[in-house]
Amino acid sequence: MEQTSVVKPETLDELIEILHKIFDSDNINVEEVQNIMESYESKPHEWKKFAKFDPFRYTRNLVDEGNGKFNLIVLCWGEGHGSSIHDHTDSHCFMKMLQGQLKETLFDWPEKESKGDMVQKSQRILQENKVAYINDSIGLHRVENVSHTEGAVSLHLYSPPFNICQTFDQRTGHKNEVKMTFWSKYGERTPFETTVSQENN
Ligand SMILES: [Fe+2]
Repeated sequence: MEQTSVVKPETLDELIEILHKIFDSDNINVEEVQNIMESYESKPHEWKKFAKFDPFRYTRNLVDEGNGKFNLIVLCWGEGHGSSIHDHTDSHCFMKMLQGQLKETLFDWPEKESKGDMVQKSQRILQENKVAYINDSIGLHRVENVSHTEGAVSLHLYSPPFNICQTFDQRTGHKNEVKMTFWSKYGERTPFETTVSQENN
């Protein structure tokens, strides 16, 4: 057994610093990363500048590029906003709740010749400060803010970073490749893109 770290980040900046050290190594202990991210207690004033909501869909806001080893992203989910069913391009995906709650629904990968509905494996509500983990061998997921009254904010770490993933049609299992974009980077709105994108992780 590898020793899991006992360092507790007091601020978001401290968390980022610790993540840089952990991801310096090529051997990632999923449990360690999950524990560290969970032990940071969300303080809105530390991440507010990244938390930019759009009235129509959820936004992805780049916080840190992790020396090329990971992307740290704040996602803002308005009432009723949700993702498609998607994969994670062979990367690790950690998702920490900073504010509010999100519903995560897990799916099996569709069969090659699949026709009909995709198989739903499980469903859970992610509570504030909790950290969920997924990768392609666990399956696919859909993430939704089912609240009609409150927005939700989550902090995602993807390693290695990626900007293309696949989305899946729940009724048919058919997939589509989508390019993901950032609504803002380091707290600044990114230039308007003319292509309509469907971000999905
Ligand atoms: Fe995801």
